[in-house]
Formats: sequence, structure tokens, C-alpha cells
Amino acid sequence: MAEPVERNLGLDLVRVTETAAMGAARWLGRGNKEAADQAAVDGMRLHLSTLDIDGLVVIGEGEKDSAPMLYNGERVGSGQGLVVDVAVDPVDGTTLTASGMPGAIAVIALAEGRGTMYAPGSLVYMDKIAVGPEAAGAIELEAPVDHNLRQVAKAKRKEVNDLRVLILDRERNQHYIDGVRQAGARISLIRDGDVAGAIATNQEETAADVLLGIGGSPEAVIAAAALKCMGGEMQCKLWPRNDEERQSAVDEGLDLNQVMGTAELVSSDNVFFAATGVTGGEYLQAVEFRRDDHVVTHSVIMRSKTGSIRYMEATHNIARLSEISAQTLD
Ligand code: FBP
Repeated sequence: MAEPVERNLGLDLVRVTETAAMGAARWLGRGNKEAADQAAVDGMRLHLSTLDIDGLVVIGEGEKDSAPMLYNGERVGSGQGLVVDVAVDPVDGTTLTASGMPGAIAVIALAEGRGTMYAPGSLVYMDKIAVGPEAAGAIELEAPVDHNLRQVAKAKRKEVNDLRVLILDRERNQHYIDGVRQAGARISLIRDGDVAGAIATNQEETAADVLLGIGGSPEAVIAAAALKCMGGEMQCKLWPRNDEERQSAVDEGLDLNQVMGTAELVSSDNVFFAATGVTGGEYLQAVEFRRDDHVVTHSVIMRSKTGSIRYMEATHNIARLSEISAQTLD
């Protein structure tokens, strides 16, 4: 008898990011990043509870005391289905959203099993390098920048000066900016949103070749989940800002010397990922508010087992959605 076809949880997951993105996009350019984030968190929470998963938030909105919802350690889902670790970033790019700039997305990832997503503890930043499938296996986080660029160029059959490297525009990344310039490759500095940046390196159409630099640790794990589905590679290492963080890492049993690859960041082979564009940009288009209460969202759904990547444009009737939500929350 034929094996039953497994359900693709990603198709349910996308409703979570769509709702988050629609909530956050209402705050576009209004200078209030907390409100944008809160609207996205509320949207996510609404749909997460309907998912048939026994989920544990590993990458969430921080600790229970400071985050009322989607905090690290929170159980989510119906408690009935697949046992999964959950990583959420209701808006990767709250500052971008608050200032109406492109690049913000709403994201969620699930990995089957407990302890299958790396928990960076209290360490906020990681040093990162990410590339797409053609250059997977060609990079080494700790190698000199020009070496990595030559390796990527070779793997992609390009010249180094044709490469485009995405780097978060931060002072702490100046050595990377200098290194790439010296090697002769091109750079796009990004103001925020390195999850979308990492994903962009895995997409032919965006013509981004490498993501390089120190950015958020939670974002590293989330990006690794996407890259696991897309066949790319990410390498990261915790980056303590000072001696206090160095000590915290030791106290929490974290290894500051370990370079983690995609498989260490997300060890499960059954990973689901969904993202929806909030403000638009290189990767996913913005939420569009159209007439008659219609809202259009642009999302991606990925699954590691099958390697499927689906792009979805959805039109939502907000008036009807609100009615259903009100009933659900009753
Ligand atoms: P927001 O906090 O505004 O959502 O920004 C997200 C982000 O840009 C991530 O993409 C990135 O990993 C991280 O912040 C960088 O942190 P910092 O802004 O502290 O340099």
C-alpha cells in the first residue's frame, strides 16, 4: 500500500505570518516600532493556537517576564500533533516598519523534535556568513574575507568583482566592509533585516551572493531554518559584546569558540518555514491595503523534507476575517 502523504504544516503556518504581517503593516511609517511588533505578535498568537502541533518556543520574544506572549519556553499549538521547536520573529525589521522602509518580514519556523533548534541563551549577537546552494561547502566563517569571496565566486562561476555581498550597516561590521572592498566585490549595506538578507543569497532573482557580518542570534537560527529548506549554507559563532556577556556564556554552558553550521543551528531534517512581506523589498512584496477592506499579502512557504518552496499571493477580506477572529476569541 502506498505511504500516506504527510501533511505540509507550512500551509497552515503561512496564515500565522500573514496575520502578523497585516497587523504590523498598519503601523507602517508611524514611528512606533513597539506597536508594530505587538500587532504582529497578536496576529501570530491568534493562529498559532489553531495549529496541530505540540510546540515549544525556543526563539521567541525574550523571557517570560518581559514578553507577555510568544516568550521562550512557551508552549504553543493544540498540543496534539507533531512535537516541534518553534522560532518566531513576528517582525524582523520593526525599525524598518516604524520608518516605512523596505525589508521587513514576519517569520516563523518549526523543526520536528525537542532540542532541534539552537538556543543562544542571553547572547544577543552572532557572527554570520550565509550563501546559496551553489556555494554551500565553499565557505569558512573564520577564513579571511577575500578567501571566502574567491571560493564563492569559483563555486558560482563568477568573478569576485561581480559578487554582491549583503552586510548589516553597523560599526561592528566595518572590518567586513573593508575586507569586501579590498577584495573588489560589491556591497549592499542593509539597515536591518538580515533574515531576509540570508534568504536573498539563496534566490537567483535577488542576485545577492553572500550575507556577511554580525547580527542577531535569534535571526541566525531562523535564517538557518530557511536555508535548510533552500539548500544553502550558514555558519555562525556567538559574538559576546563584552566581558559580562562572555561570562554569561560560560555560566550558561555556551561554547564561544564553536562555529555552527546550518545543521547545528537547526538539527532536525523536518523543518517548516513561512514568511510574509511587511514593508516590501528585495525579497517579499509589502502588504497592500486595497479598496473594500481587501488586503493582499505575499508569502513564502518552505519545507526541508521535500525541498518545496511555494510563493503565495493571498487576498484577505478583512471584514470577514474580523468576524471569524471575534468568534474564535470568544
Ligand atoms: P528590529 O529589531 O528593528 O526588528 O531589527 C532586526 C535586526 O535588524 C535583525 O535583522 C538583525 O539580526 C538585528 O536586528 C541586528 O541587531 P542590531 O539592530 O542591534 O544591530
